[in-house]
Amino acid sequence: MFELPFEAYRRALDKKDFAFKMGKVSQVTGLIIKVEGLDAFVGEVCEIQIKSNGKTVLSEVVGFVEETVLLMPLDEVEGIGPGCLVRPTGKTLKVEVSEDMLGTTLDGLGRPLMDEEIIDGTLYDVNRASPDPFKRKKIEDILPTGVKAIDGLLTLGEGQRMGIFAGSGVGKSTLLGMIARYCEADVIVIGLIGERGREVKEFIEKDLGPEGYRKSVVVCATSDMPPLVRLKGAYVATAIAEYYRDQGKKVVLMMDSVTRVAMAQREIGLATGEPPTSKGYTPSVFTTLPKLLERSGMSDKGSITALYTVLVEGDDMNEPIADTVRGILDGHIILSRKIAAENHYPAIDVQNSLSRLMKEIVDEKQYVLAGKLRENMAIYSESKDLIDVGAYQKGSNPLVDQAIRFNQPIKQFLRQRVEDRSPYENTVQQLETLFSASAVR
Ligand SMILES: Nc1ncnc2c1ncn2[C@@H]1O[C@H](COP(=O)(O)OP(=O)(O)OP(=O)(O)O)[C@@H](O)[C@H]1O
Ligand SMILES: [Mg+2]
Repeated sequence: MFELPFEAYRRALDKKDFAFKMGKVSQVTGLIIKVEGLDAFVGEVCEIQIKSNGKTVLSEVVGFVEETVLLMPLDEVEGIGPGCLVRPTGKTLKVEVSEDMLGTTLDGLGRPLMDEEIIDGTLYDVNRASPDPFKRKKIEDILPTGVKAIDGLLTLGEGQRMGIFAGSGVGKSTLLGMIARYCEADVIVIGLIGERGREVKEFIEKDLGPEGYRKSVVVCATSDMPPLVRLKGAYVATAIAEYYRDQGKKVVLMMDSVTRVAMAQREIGLATGEPPTSKGYTPSVFTTLPKLLERSGMSDKGSITALYTVLVEGDDMNEPIADTVRGILDGHIILSRKIAAENHYPAIDVQNSLSRLMKEIVDEKQYVLAGKLRENMAIYSESKDLIDVGAYQKGSNPLVDQAIRFNQPIKQFLRQRVEDRSPYENTVQQLETLFSASAVR
């Protein structure tokens, strides 16, 4: 007769917990739900059971004060009362991902918004580490965006991370939509964080359009969502981009806007008792941002080329979030209200924008031409006041004469209609003819 391995069973029993300890809600103040008697870890998702209707509210452990666990809601808190039972799930937040989730819209926690289902999904941790810096591939290839001003003068590399800095209503969404439709990427993941609800539909239908939506996954956490959901929305979008990158895909991640992510983190920080430091932002904001932004870029398998929008009020580029983000990323595109007011679109302020990797990825000829264009713009704007009042005498400075001659052709080159895609070769070609044609005269 064979013997049962009782010893092994006993060991297994010792190792595993077969009971979990539920907690009880003792206090809700603002965003913080205090729970007594809960056995949970930071980052764990818990279910709060509502007595009146039997529903559960998802929440996440954000901290402890001695024996009291602090939770923050991932749902509406309505219905939570003293004594509600809290069940730990033993898991951190995960998102279901699959190959064929393109053309879907998800909420901030990664759940499909419409009646779509994710088929054959795998679960991906929302909070992940950034790729090992020694295993990241070098950025060598160009990622054509189809936008002339960017391809020609602020060339984006595959795996590069750029910031788009702009005030409200200067054309961020329109530009992101253009890039999404025209860029040469396999997959586009778009995180719409803290936008107004109306804008989400408008962005998908108008800016992205059917051709853009077909190769995109949209994650939206609108401004009415709890701050933790808005923050998670950024993580969820990044995790989905990472999933596709792990499949070896060429991914473009767009996040509109990082400022709203920072604001969500600030609300969470203030609620958990952090001190406000610079412009009301709490220290955790400045640790969260680099962690989030470092996750995109190259890995050893694929690439995430990322575009993060930053709101700058009154064109204040030294505001703490703009300053931090600019320091982390590999370049910045500035959209200017002044240029938009001249009805010049896309309203990219070429002179103040920079792609830090351009020199390494484009050929010498294009780099020289781009430099020449910038130089001309700089000379023109320096003498603009004189030219405008008619005080400049033609012939007094050959450089200024040349700048005046080039001014209109340059503006013409930088302008682009929303519905026009400019293939990369055409852009470079136009840049070449711009100078050769005007220089002859
Ligand atoms: N490329 C463009 N061509 C023509 N008009 C444009 C272009 N880009 C922006 N606009 C004009 O500017 C308006 C605002 O653009 P958009 O919604 O893209 O800005 P935004 O920065 O995303 O605004 P918000 O801050 O409200 O999100 C558009 O309604 C349109 O009239
Ligand atoms: Mg917008």
